[in-house]
Amino acid sequence: MKNINIHTKLVGLLGYPLAHSKSPAMQNRAFQSMGLNFLYLPVEVEQEGLPDVINGMKKMNFAGFNVTIPHKIRVLEFMDELDYLAGVIGAVNTAVIEKGRIKGYNTDGQGFIRSMEEGAGLTVRGKRVFVLGSGGAARAITMTLAAHGVDRIYICNRRREKAEALSSEINAKIKDCSAAVAFEPKTMEGMLKNIDILINTTSVGMHPHRHQTPMDAGLVDSSTVVCDIVYNPAQTRFLEEAAQRGCKTVNGLGMLVNQGAEAFRLWTGQRPPIEEMYKALSSPHGE
Ligand code: ATR
Repeated sequence: MKNINIHTKLVGLLGYPLAHSKSPAMQNRAFQSMGLNFLYLPVEVEQEGLPDVINGMKKMNFAGFNVTIPHKIRVLEFMDELDYLAGVIGAVNTAVIEKGRIKGYNTDGQGFIRSMEEGAGLTVRGKRVFVLGSGGAARAITMTLAAHGVDRIYICNRRREKAEALSSEINAKIKDCSAAVAFEPKTMEGMLKNIDILINTTSVGMHPHRHQTPMDAGLVDSSTVVCDIVYNPAQTRFLEEAAQRGCKTVNGLGMLVNQGAEAFRLWTGQRPPIEEMYKALSSPHGE
């Protein structure tokens, strides 16, 4: 912190509440380790304060910001320009400010894909994917996977209408990828035997509900890569059962780090120090 001066570039994190966010520790460690004069600041803001905060950032030394719950959709209206993926996902998690103009991006899905490459050595093109959940995270992941050439996406959600809406939207927006809902237990079992990647995007299994699991991971073939976006605990019951089945597993830490790494690249134009970012998450105070 000793080098803060008028040249320091600021990056904000907009959300409410922010008490549990790991992003400040992760990004500040990344900036420091690269010797960059950047500072990442949590800016806890509620809905009605967003216009003032964002307009203020445009007048200050902000290189951009991250956006988290509950503002990822609402911030769309403040963007002067939208990256393709942010447009199809319909949500922004990263913004870059340049000469008073804001461009919105969504790095959540890219972070997920990078974590799969990193954790399982897997490229997604041509693959068949089964997704549990249809919320914001599922949206970012499925749209990005579809845009990266996966062959087929099956979506299963507790509330069927949300899975149907997401599936139709993928089919309407992205050619060459067909999405479908998966519901009836019999057909589901058939689909599960025949997929390359299974992803839990729901919060089921997250601390403190560690004993819960969104489905029986024993239903998939052992060649399936099984992913959970939950990162606390690092090894959910879902992933444990998949590993017992013989599947490769990928936990949610990689997505958390890699969505941040993609954002770091956008603000700084530099290659992100991934190892340092992982270290920031594993030490108790992020340092
Ligand atoms: P996020 O932004 O993390 O994706 P979200 O938009 O609230 O959060 O979405 C959470 C997803 O997890 C939803 O698909 C939700 O199912 P519903 O659409 O039916 O609400 C799913 N989910 C959350 N808790 C669940 C539970 N206990 N069992 C099954 N699905 C659950």
